Amino acid sequence: MLGKFHGALFFVVLTSSLAVFGAGTTFAAEDEVPTFSKDVAPIFQAKCEACHRPNSIAPMSLVTYQESRPWARSIKDRVSTRQMPPWHIDRTVGISDFKNDRSLTDTEIDIVVRWVDGGAPRGNPADMPAALEWPDQAKWYLADRFGGPPDLIIESDPFTMPAESNDAWWKPISETGLTEPRWVRAIEVRPGTEAGRKITHHVIARLEQDETDPLLQNPNATADNDPLANSGLFMEWAVGKEGRVMRPDSGVLMLPDSRIIWDVHYSASGEEITDNVRLGVYFYPKGEEPKNRQVLHLMGATGGGSLDIEPNSIAVTEGYFPLKRAARIESFQPHMHLRGKAMAIEAILPTGRREILSHVGDFNFNWHNTYQYTDNVAPLLPKGTLMKVTAWHDNTAANRANPDPNVWVGYGDRTVDEMAHAWVNVTYFTDEEYDELVEARESADNNN
Ligand code: HEC
Repeated sequence: MLGKFHGALFFVVLTSSLAVFGAGTTFAAEDEVPTFSKDVAPIFQAKCEACHRPNSIAPMSLVTYQESRPWARSIKDRVSTRQMPPWHIDRTVGISDFKNDRSLTDTEIDIVVRWVDGGAPRGNPADMPAALEWPDQAKWYLADRFGGPPDLIIESDPFTMPAESNDAWWKPISETGLTEPRWVRAIEVRPGTEAGRKITHHVIARLEQDETDPLLQNPNATADNDPLANSGLFMEWAVGKEGRVMRPDSGVLMLPDSRIIWDVHYSASGEEITDNVRLGVYFYPKGEEPKNRQVLHLMGATGGGSLDIEPNSIAVTEGYFPLKRAARIESFQPHMHLRGKAMAIEAILPTGRREILSHVGDFNFNWHNTYQYTDNVAPLLPKGTLMKVTAWHDNTAANRANPDPNVWVGYGDRTVDEMAHAWVNVTYFTDEEYDELVEARESADNNN
């Protein structure tokens, strides 16, 4: 109702200004019902097709008008509440510019909603944008860019997902087979087969190796009972994401005798499918070493005893992580389970000043998004900064994902237990390098 009233009001203002200025074509669209062919299809191509196309992870294709029309009501519902595309950052808090932002703009949401409200018309088929060509999924995506297939391919053991089943998490371990240290410049992860794409929801691949540099060991690890104690490299695959290419001058170091620990999230698709996951690693040529090392840290509350979530309550848990060298925060991924509600990451600077970096306000266990900061905003933090991760868990009946609000919940690996950490990718710098980076960014900002 309110929306309509605004529309009418706007129209009155518009007609009177038309009388004064003559042309008003840019405004006319506000009163027209958007059509699928002209207005909605380009949005679906850009923001939905990665998942909503045949043989991908989503339950239906949104490529053509015929495929999309039956879903109009559900589309309005999911889009207007920002549940689709899955992207759970609170844009009103801290930094919200991310390289891989797949969310809709307010204008795009408005177009989709007005299209549905206006009866979801097709419009003129001649207005349809050319169909998107998706990369050949049989090929390694980065192969062209790096002049050949990956230097190292690591495969997980296969998994069989029944036709009907609860979601499954598959955690095998694979040896990398490396006999000497190598610097990684790009990584891609993918399901082994085309059919595998229907069930593979999300992949996390951690690199476990013996770090000699204490800086790279997890200061929060509680020795034996912490399954995440010694984590290094991290790669992650979610639908719509094809590869990770390091920023210039930085790379991930893989050590001999290292191992990949997989964590693959499978969803049933209505048919039984057996598949595995493959990791393609592109190395820097031998002798060409990048200057800076990117590492993955686990920040937040970790280990047994770190969580205490009462029945029928909302719990807040805090964890801290000291940056022992100057650093740039490249990306972060909140990790909680079914009761996860929100997570904030914050930097407490050596001066005592505090800065909220980002806040995921609407966590959803189904979607393990990695938020990758754009180059011009990736936080630069001096040595001695304390990173603070705050996690909220909703153990009430109001949380629809909650299997049982009447039980106490603590830390653990099962999905009915909880976790409260963020995976944070960090590049470390010397103090001089850090000063240069800060200066370069300041002068770039001044020139804008
Ligand atoms: C990263 C993958 C991905 C992207 C991008 C994505 N979706 Fe989805 N969508 C899914 C998956 C998987 C489901 C089913 C599971 C769920 O509901 O979370 C789904 C469910 C939905 C549903 C609910 C279907 C039902 O059963 O009622 C709608 C509607 C929807 N998506 C619309 C969209 C629209 C519109 C866009 C783009 C503006 C979009 N999605 C972008 C993966 C995606």
